[in-house]
Amino acid sequence: MELNESNKLKQVREELIEHAKKHLLYKNVLETKGHIVFGRGEDNAKILFIGEAPGFTENELGKPFVGRSGKLLEEWVKEIGLKNNEYAIMNVVPIIPLAEGKIRPPTEEEINYFLPYTMKMVKAINPEVIVLLGKSAARAFGKESMRTGETTEYEGKKMFFIYHPAYYLRNGRKGLEDLKNLKKILIEKENVQKQSKLGAFS
Ligand code: URA
Repeated sequence: MELNESNKLKQVREELIEHAKKHLLYKNVLETKGHIVFGRGEDNAKILFIGEAPGFTENELGKPFVGRSGKLLEEWVKEIGLKNNEYAIMNVVPIIPLAEGKIRPPTEEEINYFLPYTMKMVKAINPEVIVLLGKSAARAFGKESMRTGETTEYEGKKMFFIYHPAYYLRNGRKGLEDLKNLKKILIEKENVQKQSKLGAFS
């Protein structure tokens, strides 16, 4: 079920919105007539992509990764062969961070302010693989030292780090090479599932 309509995530969503309204950043939503941006995608996703914070398009439409970075992310999703009901997308900060009308990266204070809700969302969705998109997401999980394309373990889940899609867009690259390890993890997981199904019938 879609995250915004999910019963499983209803309480986290309501609490997150209340929490967000108490932060100074919320004035950006009011001044731009924008949105507090929750997640999108499947509430039982096996892969959870975690980005930074909404940009202008996301703020306007109320959904994460629906602008230029989102288009590249959707190309990545195709590249690794995911179906629509297999992934979800969220940010570590649900409000557009602005400085003099321009997008800026969220501060450590802002990431930490929303961290309890980031963790509650991860727990509720309970994905098999978490994909950190860029430095702010890595910072939220204490994984700043990860390099692009690298995999680690996180509380029994696979965690994969890749630069933020905006980085690749700035450099005129697609980043598909850097997805190799993620593809490998997914193929391995699929094989394990197939084996266990076969085992159940033998
Ligand atoms: N960049 C992000 O990190 N998140 C979005 O939702 C859009 C752009």
